[in-house]
Amino acid sequence: MVEETSSKSCDRTKGTLVMAVRGIGQADDSPISKSAMLLVTACAVVSKDPVYARTFQDPYAAWFAAAISDEAAERLPTLDDLAARAAFIEETERDLDGLVTHVVYRKPWITDRVRGALEAGIGQLVILGAGCDTLSLRLEKALAGVEVFEFDRTPVIDFRRRVLGQHGALAENVRLLTIDFDEDDLGTVLGANGFDRDKPAIIVAEAVVEYLTGDGVEGLFASARRMGAPDSRLIFTFLANKVYEPGKFDTLRDRLDEGGESLKFGLVPSEIEHFLDARGFRFLEMATPETIEREIVPLVGAPVGIIPGWHLVLAERHMR
Ligand SMILES: C[S@@+](CC[C@H](N)C(=O)[O-])C[C@H]1O[C@@H](n2cnc3c(N)ncnc32)[C@H](O)[C@@H]1O
Repeated sequence: MVEETSSKSCDRTKGTLVMAVRGIGQADDSPISKSAMLLVTACAVVSKDPVYARTFQDPYAAWFAAAISDEAAERLPTLDDLAARAAFIEETERDLDGLVTHVVYRKPWITDRVRGALEAGIGQLVILGAGCDTLSLRLEKALAGVEVFEFDRTPVIDFRRRVLGQHGALAENVRLLTIDFDEDDLGTVLGANGFDRDKPAIIVAEAVVEYLTGDGVEGLFASARRMGAPDSRLIFTFLANKVYEPGKFDTLRDRLDEGGESLKFGLVPSEIEHFLDARGFRFLEMATPETIEREIVPLVGAPVGIIPGWHLVLAERHMR
Protein backbone atom coordinates (compact mmCIF):
# COMPACT_ATOMS: atom_id res chain seq x y z
CA MET A 1 0.00 0.00 0.00
CA VAL A 2 1.25 3.47 -0.83
CA GLU A 3 1.13 5.79 2.16
CA GLU A 4 -0.24 9.28 1.65
CA THR A 5 2.15 12.11 2.30
CA SER A 6 1.43 15.73 2.97
CA SER A 7 2.77 17.31 -0.17
CA LYS A 8 1.25 14.87 -2.66
CA SER A 9 -1.91 16.91 -2.58
CA CYS A 10 -0.14 20.26 -2.95
CA ASP A 11 -1.29 22.45 -5.78
CA ARG A 12 1.56 24.85 -6.34
CA THR A 13 -0.22 26.94 -8.96
CA LYS A 14 -2.94 28.60 -6.92
CA GLY A 15 -2.96 31.55 -4.58
CA THR A 16 -0.94 34.62 -3.88
CA LEU A 17 2.59 35.06 -2.60
CA VAL A 18 2.43 34.16 1.05
CA MET A 19 5.75 32.48 1.72
CA ALA A 20 6.77 33.16 5.28
CA VAL A 21 10.39 32.76 6.30
CA ARG A 22 9.83 32.58 10.03
CA GLY A 23 8.39 30.37 12.71
CA ILE A 24 4.63 30.05 12.99
CA GLY A 25 3.27 33.27 14.48
CA GLN A 26 6.80 34.63 14.99
CA ALA A 27 6.57 38.38 15.54
CA ASP A 28 8.13 40.80 13.05
CA ASP A 29 10.36 42.20 15.77
CA SER A 30 11.43 38.83 17.15
CA PRO A 31 15.24 38.85 17.62
CA ILE A 32 15.41 35.10 17.12
CA SER A 33 16.68 34.05 13.68
CA LYS A 34 13.63 33.65 11.43
CA SER A 35 15.49 31.33 9.08
CA ALA A 36 16.42 29.09 12.01
CA MET A 37 12.79 29.08 13.12
CA LEU A 38 11.56 28.18 9.63
CA LEU A 39 14.03 25.30 9.49
CA VAL A 40 13.11 23.81 12.83
CA THR A 41 9.43 24.21 11.98
CA ALA A 42 10.10 22.35 8.72
CA CYS A 43 11.79 19.57 10.69
CA ALA A 44 8.82 19.35 13.05
CA VAL A 45 6.36 19.26 10.14
CA VAL A 46 8.09 16.58 8.04
CA SER A 47 8.53 14.48 11.18
CA LYS A 48 4.74 14.26 11.38
CA ASP A 49 4.54 12.66 7.95
CA PRO A 50 4.73 8.85 7.83
CA VAL A 51 6.64 8.79 4.54
CA TYR A 52 9.10 11.67 5.13
CA ALA A 53 9.74 10.40 8.65
CA ARG A 54 11.20 7.19 7.19
CA THR A 55 14.09 9.31 5.89
CA PHE A 56 14.27 11.91 8.63
CA GLN A 57 12.57 12.13 11.98
CA ASP A 58 13.31 14.80 14.52
CA PRO A 59 11.49 14.24 17.79
CA TYR A 60 12.91 17.45 19.30
CA ALA A 61 12.15 20.01 16.58
CA ALA A 62 8.61 20.59 17.85
CA TRP A 63 10.00 21.81 21.20
CA PHE A 64 11.54 24.81 19.45
CA ALA A 65 8.91 25.26 16.76
CA ALA A 66 6.09 25.39 19.32
CA ALA A 67 7.93 27.71 21.71
CA ILE A 68 8.15 30.68 19.36
CA SER A 69 4.52 31.83 19.83
CA ASP A 70 1.16 30.85 21.30
CA GLU A 71 -0.07 30.47 17.73
CA ALA A 72 2.69 27.96 17.00
CA ALA A 73 1.90 25.99 20.14
CA GLU A 74 -1.73 25.76 19.01
CA ARG A 75 -1.20 25.22 15.29
CA LEU A 76 1.62 22.68 15.26
CA PRO A 77 -0.49 19.85 16.69
CA THR A 78 -3.13 20.55 14.03
CA LEU A 79 -0.50 19.66 11.40
CA ASP A 80 -0.81 16.03 12.44
CA ASP A 81 -3.74 16.16 10.04
CA LEU A 82 -2.76 15.31 6.45
CA ALA A 83 -4.76 18.08 4.77
CA ALA A 84 -3.62 20.74 7.21
CA ARG A 85 -0.01 19.63 6.75
CA ALA A 86 -0.36 19.70 2.95
CA ALA A 87 -1.77 23.24 3.12
CA PHE A 88 1.09 24.36 5.34
CA ILE A 89 3.73 22.92 3.02
CA GLU A 90 2.01 24.34 -0.04
CA GLU A 91 1.81 27.79 1.47
CA THR A 92 5.39 27.81 2.66
CA GLU A 93 6.86 26.32 -0.50
CA ARG A 94 4.82 28.32 -3.00
CA ASP A 95 7.73 30.52 -3.98
CA LEU A 96 10.56 28.10 -3.36
CA ASP A 97 9.92 24.42 -3.78
CA GLY A 98 11.77 22.54 -1.08
CA LEU A 99 11.85 25.21 1.60
CA VAL A 100 10.16 22.77 3.99
CA THR A 101 10.75 19.36 2.43
CA HIS A 102 14.49 19.73 1.70
CA VAL A 103 15.28 19.11 5.37
CA VAL A 104 14.60 15.41 4.78
CA TYR A 105 17.89 15.10 2.89
CA ARG A 106 19.81 17.98 4.38
CA LYS A 107 19.67 16.88 8.00
CA PRO A 108 20.53 13.18 7.40
CA TRP A 109 23.42 14.10 5.07
CA ILE A 110 25.05 16.17 7.79
CA THR A 111 24.11 13.81 10.63
CA ASP A 112 25.66 10.84 8.80
CA ARG A 113 28.96 12.71 8.25
CA VAL A 114 29.10 13.81 11.89
CA ARG A 115 28.36 10.25 13.00
CA GLY A 116 31.14 8.97 10.73
CA ALA A 117 33.62 11.43 12.26
CA LEU A 118 32.58 10.42 15.78
CA GLU A 119 33.05 6.77 14.86
CA ALA A 120 36.54 7.68 13.66
CA GLY A 121 37.24 8.85 17.22
CA ILE A 122 36.96 12.63 16.93
CA GLY A 123 36.06 13.93 20.38
CA GLN A 124 35.05 17.57 19.87
CA LEU A 125 32.07 18.93 17.95
CA VAL A 126 31.68 22.62 17.12
CA ILE A 127 28.33 23.71 15.69
CA LEU A 128 28.36 27.18 14.17
CA GLY A 129 25.08 29.06 13.77
CA ALA A 130 23.35 26.23 15.62
CA GLY A 131 20.01 28.04 15.57
CA CYS A 132 17.38 25.54 16.71
CA ASP A 133 19.10 22.58 15.11
CA THR A 134 18.76 19.37 17.14
CA LEU A 135 21.87 17.49 15.98
CA SER A 136 23.33 17.26 19.48
CA LEU A 137 20.02 15.93 20.82
CA ARG A 138 19.55 13.40 18.04
CA LEU A 139 23.14 12.17 18.49
CA GLU A 140 23.06 12.32 22.28
CA LYS A 141 24.25 8.72 22.76
CA ALA A 142 27.04 8.95 20.18
CA LEU A 143 28.15 12.21 21.79
CA ALA A 144 28.72 10.71 25.25
CA GLY A 145 32.23 11.80 26.22
CA VAL A 146 32.41 14.31 23.35
CA GLU A 147 32.75 18.04 24.07
CA VAL A 148 30.16 20.01 22.11
CA PHE A 149 30.30 23.76 21.46
CA GLU A 150 27.16 25.35 19.99
CA PHE A 151 27.41 28.92 18.73
CA ASP A 152 24.92 31.53 17.67
CA ARG A 153 23.92 35.11 18.36
CA THR A 154 22.78 35.99 21.89
CA PRO A 155 18.96 35.99 21.36
CA VAL A 156 19.13 32.62 19.61
CA ILE A 157 21.33 31.07 22.30
CA ASP A 158 19.04 32.48 25.03
CA PHE A 159 16.01 30.92 23.29
CA ARG A 160 17.88 27.65 22.81
CA ARG A 161 18.86 27.54 26.48
CA ARG A 162 15.29 28.34 27.57
CA VAL A 163 13.68 25.64 25.41
CA LEU A 164 16.26 22.99 26.31
CA GLY A 165 15.90 23.92 29.99
CA GLN A 166 12.11 23.61 29.82
CA HIS A 167 12.54 20.08 28.50
CA GLY A 168 15.28 19.10 30.95
CA ALA A 169 17.67 18.69 28.01
CA LEU A 170 20.60 20.93 28.93
CA ALA A 171 23.49 18.48 28.62
CA GLU A 172 26.68 18.83 30.66
CA ASN A 173 28.93 18.21 27.67
CA VAL A 174 27.21 20.87 25.49
CA ARG A 175 28.29 24.50 25.88
CA LEU A 176 25.96 27.17 24.49
CA LEU A 177 28.09 30.09 23.37
CA THR A 178 27.29 33.49 21.89
CA ILE A 179 29.15 35.02 18.98
CA ASP A 180 28.80 37.25 15.94
CA PHE A 181 30.94 35.67 13.22
CA ASP A 182 31.19 38.97 11.40
CA GLU A 183 32.65 40.64 14.51
CA ASP A 184 34.17 38.12 16.91
CA ASP A 185 37.03 35.67 16.67
CA LEU A 186 35.77 32.11 16.91
CA GLY A 187 39.14 30.74 18.05
CA THR A 188 39.30 33.16 20.98
CA VAL A 189 35.82 32.19 22.21
CA LEU A 190 36.53 28.47 21.75
CA GLY A 191 39.89 28.78 23.53
CA ALA A 192 38.23 30.51 26.49
CA ASN A 193 35.64 27.76 26.78
CA GLY A 194 37.69 24.62 27.05
CA PHE A 195 38.27 23.72 23.40
CA ASP A 196 41.47 21.69 23.01
CA ARG A 197 43.21 22.77 19.82
CA ASP A 198 45.57 19.79 19.99
CA LYS A 199 42.69 17.38 19.48
CA PRO A 200 40.75 16.99 16.22
CA ALA A 201 37.29 18.47 15.98
CA ILE A 202 34.25 18.28 13.76
CA ILE A 203 33.15 21.75 12.73
CA VAL A 204 29.64 22.12 11.31
CA ALA A 205 28.44 25.29 9.59
CA GLU A 206 25.02 24.39 8.22
CA ALA A 207 23.35 27.26 6.35
CA VAL A 208 25.65 29.83 7.94
CA VAL A 209 28.28 31.14 5.50
CA GLU A 210 25.42 32.08 3.16
CA TYR A 211 24.56 34.88 5.62
CA LEU A 212 28.08 36.19 6.28
CA THR A 213 30.16 38.88 4.62
CA GLY A 214 33.21 37.80 2.62
CA ASP A 215 35.38 38.96 5.52
CA GLY A 216 33.22 37.02 7.97
CA VAL A 217 33.64 33.85 5.90
CA GLU A 218 37.41 34.33 5.66
CA GLY A 219 37.56 34.89 9.43
CA LEU A 220 35.57 31.74 10.04
CA PHE A 221 37.77 29.60 7.79
CA ALA A 222 40.93 31.13 9.30
CA SER A 223 39.67 30.19 12.79
CA ALA A 224 38.74 26.70 11.64
CA ARG A 225 42.23 26.33 10.18
CA ARG A 226 43.94 27.58 13.36
CA MET A 227 41.74 25.50 15.68
CA GLY A 228 41.69 22.43 13.50
CA ALA A 229 44.22 19.82 14.62
CA PRO A 230 45.16 17.15 12.03
CA ASP A 231 42.19 14.93 11.06
CA SER A 232 39.66 17.64 11.96
CA ARG A 233 36.67 17.69 9.66
CA LEU A 234 34.60 20.54 8.35
CA ILE A 235 31.02 20.20 7.17
CA PHE A 236 29.45 23.28 5.62
CA THR A 237 26.89 24.42 3.10
CA PHE A 238 27.02 27.15 0.50
CA LEU A 239 25.02 28.74 -2.27
CA ALA A 240 26.41 28.88 -5.79
CA ASN A 241 27.20 32.42 -6.89
CA LYS A 242 24.71 32.16 -9.71
CA VAL A 243 21.71 32.19 -7.37
CA TYR A 244 22.49 35.83 -6.64
CA GLU A 245 21.56 36.74 -10.20
CA PRO A 246 18.23 38.60 -10.39
CA GLY A 247 15.21 36.33 -10.70
CA LYS A 248 16.65 33.24 -9.07
CA PHE A 249 15.97 33.71 -5.36
CA ASP A 250 14.26 37.10 -5.36
CA THR A 251 11.27 36.26 -3.18
CA LEU A 252 13.26 34.28 -0.65
CA ARG A 253 15.91 37.00 -0.49
CA ASP A 254 13.25 39.67 0.01
CA ARG A 255 11.59 37.71 2.81
CA LEU A 256 14.93 37.08 4.51
CA ASP A 257 15.90 40.75 4.13
CA GLU A 258 12.60 41.77 5.73
CA GLY A 259 13.42 39.52 8.66
CA GLY A 260 16.87 41.08 9.06
CA GLU A 261 18.79 38.16 7.54
CA SER A 262 20.31 38.76 4.14
CA LEU A 263 21.83 36.13 1.90
CA LYS A 264 25.23 37.52 0.97
CA PHE A 265 27.88 34.94 0.25
CA GLY A 266 28.32 32.53 -2.63
CA LEU A 267 30.98 30.29 -4.17
CA VAL A 268 31.65 28.81 -7.58
CA PRO A 269 31.00 25.07 -7.08
CA SER A 270 33.59 23.95 -9.62
CA GLU A 271 36.26 25.86 -7.64
CA ILE A 272 35.48 24.31 -4.27
CA GLU A 273 38.61 22.15 -4.09
CA HIS A 274 40.85 25.12 -4.72
CA PHE A 275 38.86 27.32 -2.31
CA LEU A 276 39.28 24.76 0.48
CA ASP A 277 42.89 23.93 -0.27
CA ALA A 278 43.87 27.59 -0.02
CA ARG A 279 42.24 27.71 3.43
CA GLY A 280 43.85 24.59 4.91
CA PHE A 281 41.24 21.95 4.06
CA ARG A 282 41.17 19.00 1.70
CA PHE A 283 37.93 18.47 -0.19
CA LEU A 284 36.35 15.06 0.51
CA GLU A 285 32.77 15.08 -0.70
CA MET A 286 29.99 17.34 -1.98
CA ALA A 287 26.25 16.95 -2.50
CA THR A 288 24.99 19.14 -5.34
CA PRO A 289 21.40 19.82 -6.43
CA GLU A 290 22.01 17.31 -9.24
CA THR A 291 23.37 14.50 -7.04
CA ILE A 292 20.64 15.13 -4.49
CA GLU A 293 17.96 14.89 -7.17
CA ARG A 294 19.50 11.79 -8.75
CA GLU A 295 20.70 9.84 -5.72
CA ILE A 296 18.83 10.93 -2.61
CA VAL A 297 15.36 12.19 -3.51
CA PRO A 298 14.23 8.93 -5.21
CA LEU A 299 14.90 7.10 -1.94
CA VAL A 300 12.50 9.30 0.02
CA GLY A 301 9.34 8.04 -1.63
CA ALA A 302 7.57 11.41 -1.57
CA PRO A 303 7.94 14.79 -3.29
CA VAL A 304 11.02 16.69 -2.15
CA GLY A 305 11.96 20.10 -3.47
CA ILE A 306 15.57 20.89 -4.32
CA ILE A 307 16.95 24.23 -3.22
CA PRO A 308 18.62 25.67 -6.35
CA GLY A 309 22.36 26.18 -6.09
CA TRP A 310 22.60 24.86 -2.55
CA HIS A 311 25.54 22.53 -1.81
CA LEU A 312 26.73 20.47 1.16
CA VAL A 313 30.43 19.84 1.63
CA LEU A 314 32.66 17.57 3.73
CA ALA A 315 36.35 18.48 4.06
CA GLU A 316 39.31 17.50 6.20
CA ARG A 317 42.11 19.61 7.68
CA HIS A 318 45.31 19.18 5.73
CA MET A 319 48.73 20.09 7.09
CA ARG A 320 50.47 21.23 3.94
C1 LIG B 1 19.60 29.46 8.36
S1 LIG B 1 19.89 29.41 10.07
C2 LIG B 1 20.59 27.79 10.24
C3 LIG B 1 20.40 27.23 11.61
C4 LIG B 1 20.95 25.79 11.78
N1 LIG B 1 22.35 25.73 11.43
C5 LIG B 1 20.16 24.84 10.91
O1 LIG B 1 20.65 24.52 9.81
O2 LIG B 1 19.09 24.41 11.31
C6 LIG B 1 21.32 30.43 10.21
C7 LIG B 1 21.81 30.57 11.64
O3 LIG B 1 23.06 31.24 11.62
C8 LIG B 1 23.05 32.25 12.60
N2 LIG B 1 23.91 33.35 12.14
C9 LIG B 1 23.81 34.01 10.96
N3 LIG B 1 24.74 34.96 10.90
C10 LIG B 1 25.43 34.91 12.06
C11 LIG B 1 26.51 35.66 12.60
N4 LIG B 1 27.07 36.68 11.94
N5 LIG B 1 26.97 35.34 13.83
C12 LIG B 1 26.41 34.32 14.54
N6 LIG B 1 25.38 33.57 14.07
C13 LIG B 1 24.90 33.88 12.86
C14 LIG B 1 21.61 32.70 12.71
O4 LIG B 1 21.33 33.34 13.94
C15 LIG B 1 20.87 31.38 12.52
O5 LIG B 1 20.63 30.72 13.73
